[in-house]
Order: sequence, then structure tokens, then C-alpha cells
Amino acid sequence: MAEKKTQDQINRELRKDWDKLKFETQQIRAGEDPYPETPSSLRLPIYATKSYVYPNFTEFIKSHYYYSRTENPTLYALDKKLATLHGGEEALSVASGMAAVHLACSSLLYRRLKRVKPNKIFKYLPQTHSEEIPNLVMHKNQYTGTFRLFMNVYPQMGIEPRIVDMRDLQQVKDAIDDQTKLIFIETPANPSIDVIDIQACSNMIHDAGGKCIVDNTFASPALQKPLELGADFVVESLTKYINGHGDAMGGVIIGPKIELQKIRYFWLELEGQVMSPFSAWLILRGCRTLSVRMKKHCENAKQIANFLESHPKVAKVVYPGLESHPDHSIATKQMSDYGGMLGFELKSQEESLDFINHLKIIKVGVSLGDTTSLIEYTSLMTGIDLSSWEKRLMNISDTHFRFSIGLEDSQDLINDLNQALNQL
Ligand SMILES: Cc1ncc(COP(=O)(O)O)c(C=O)c1O
Repeated sequence: MAEKKTQDQINRELRKDWDKLKFETQQIRAGEDPYPETPSSLRLPIYATKSYVYPNFTEFIKSHYYYSRTENPTLYALDKKLATLHGGEEALSVASGMAAVHLACSSLLYRRLKRVKPNKIFKYLPQTHSEEIPNLVMHKNQYTGTFRLFMNVYPQMGIEPRIVDMRDLQQVKDAIDDQTKLIFIETPANPSIDVIDIQACSNMIHDAGGKCIVDNTFASPALQKPLELGADFVVESLTKYINGHGDAMGGVIIGPKIELQKIRYFWLELEGQVMSPFSAWLILRGCRTLSVRMKKHCENAKQIANFLESHPKVAKVVYPGLESHPDHSIATKQMSDYGGMLGFELKSQEESLDFINHLKIIKVGVSLGDTTSLIEYTSLMTGIDLSSWEKRLMNISDTHFRFSIGLEDSQDLINDLNQALNQL
């Protein structure tokens, strides 16, 4: 009788088939088709279970599934789909984008304490000599949650954040030394929509022996694949474009299998930021239409960027697809399209507050990347916890709006903006 294939062998064979498909097919089929546990069901089930039981200990030892804090079949399908879409070896879906950022950074920044006796641990703890303190290089403008994690939490753990303007590659070069473990790139960046050269930054950190993580939330794999540009890891908030329907939260880390196993079985196991199988199921549903939605987000955004740029009440528009964007050429080099996020400024704070109150179709709210157009008055919404020097550093002015352009008809959105601007 033929030997029964192990789960790992089955996975490797499936993965080979998925890798041959085009992106539009991968987003529908990878991870789910065929799905080993339920081969004839069109949609895979939500495995609402905390643990897995076996008829005997031998079967338990052979199995991949033990406890849902580290493995669950619904999440497993999502992991496989996202790894395939990014062309990465392995993926780990977790509870939120912030969880993904923190878990990925933790595993690269911390020294691994082997099984040492307590009195020997001292030498592994952060030392007072600056040359022995691990550091990470970050852009001056990125998602406020990540910014505050790096600036307020990591220094307390003995990690030095080094802020640079990553669009200036000389600054990146000067900031890297032999204690630099990590360069963290978010591109396009939230909320400035700065675009950073992934390939150039990855090369620099690799020369120094460190690693590169890219937060790809604004682009999604439909528009940008950082691993192909030299990054070691990708993190994304699945809450945004990947799910795309505004009804679930999640995050993912994609990268080398061995590193992802360390994150899953050490960091996730101990910190516990697990995604619920219900969320995984919703995100799998959302992901199947990713490229179609991204195309429409991009089309709408281009039309709106052109409209805003020509309106006399608008002081500034920042959209990577506009030739006026300072990083337009890098965006063209590394993205297949320019995304659905733009920033703009009006001429005064008074007009800005008036404007946002006149909008009717476009919803006022934080977050981004779903069907519904969402606008935020940045300094008083996601920027509310930043100090005034941090807002200056991040170029968040009192007249700045971050606009996540949804999938509504573009003319309806333009009409809504136009009527609100014309009342000022
Ligand atoms: C670029 C970026 N990364 C990470 C996050 C965090 O994601 P989540 O809200 O899913 O924790 C966000 C949230 O807005 C974001 O914009």
C-alpha cells in the first residue's frame, strides 16, 4: 500500500501548483483549492475550535494541529494564500496590523536568550555602552501606531530608534552601523504618502548585516511586492485593502519559513495576538477580489487627485500618481499602480473644519482601504496622540486630510468634494 503523505508533503505539492498561476487566479485559489481537510466544499469552513484531539498519542505526534493559539486550519488557508500572493516562503496571520509589526520587529531586534542560568542573563541585557545597543532605522513619517511603538516602547526595551528621512538615501547610509538590526520601511507611508526606495534601502541594510521589513499596507501585493525588491519580510494590516470590506481586523507577516516558525512558536505563542478564525474566513472572502478592487481604487484616486489639484480652494495634493509628487519616479519603478490613498491640504484651519462638515457621501472616520470612502482630519484624528514636535516632524499640518478613496462612482465622490469646497 502506498505510504500516506504527510501534511507537509501535501502542502509543498499544492504550493508548487499555486505558484504557477497568475495573481488574479492565485487570489481566488491559493490556500483554498484544493483544501486538504474538506476537498469537496467550495468554501472552507470556519474552524471554531480551541484545540485538536486524536484517537491516540501516535496520531497526536504526527499531526500539524495542536492548539489554536499557534495553528488553525482556517488561518492556515489564509497564510498560504498571502504567502503565495507575495511570493514568500511562509506567512503568519495575526490579530491586527499592529500585532504583525510588533511580532516581526520583536523577532529581529531581541537577542535570543538561550537556556542560561539567571545570573548569566545579565550580560545579554541592554548595556549602557551605546555601541552595544541595538538600533533600528525608521522613516520620520509613518503610521502613528508604529511610530509610537518605536519611539515610546522600544527605547524602554533597550532598542534605539534612529529617525531619518528615508527619501534621502545618504541619511539612511549615515544612520546604519554594525548595531543596526533592522530598517523598517512603510511605503507609501501613512499619512504623508511618501514613497521610499525599497531596493536601495534593502541593499544598504544587507551590506551591514541587518534585515529589512516593509509595511505594504497602502499598496497590497496587487500593486507592490517588496520581497521581489529585496526586502526580507513584509507586514500588512489585513484590516485594510486585503480584507477590503471594513468588517474584520487582522495582520500578516510574510518571510522566510525558518524565521516565521520562530515568530509563530516563540513570539506568538508567548504574546498571544491570535487572529480569530471568523476574521480569517472574512479576510479570505475579501482577498478573492483584491486585484479587481485595487484597480477601481486606483482609477478613482487618479480622477480625484486631478480634480483636487485643479481646485482653487486646495493648497496641496499628494498622490504618487501625480507628476508633482516628489517620489513619482520611485513609485513608478516599484509599484504597478499608485493606490487609493491621497493626502491634501486646504488653505486654513477654519476652512478645513468647515469643509469636512459639509461632506455627505464621503464618510468621516479613521482607517482606510475598504469599499467606503473615508476621510480623516489628520491632526485631530489619527494624529491626536502625537506631540507638536512629532506632528512637525511628520508634516501633519492643521489643514491636512488623509483620504482613502473607496469604490463608489468617482463622479459622485468628485461632486461631494466639489459641493463641500464651494461652500468655503
Ligand atoms: C500602514 C499601517 N500599518 C499598520 C497599521 C495597523 O493596522 P491595524 O489597525 O490592523 O492594527 C495601520 C493602521 O492604520 C497602517 O495604516
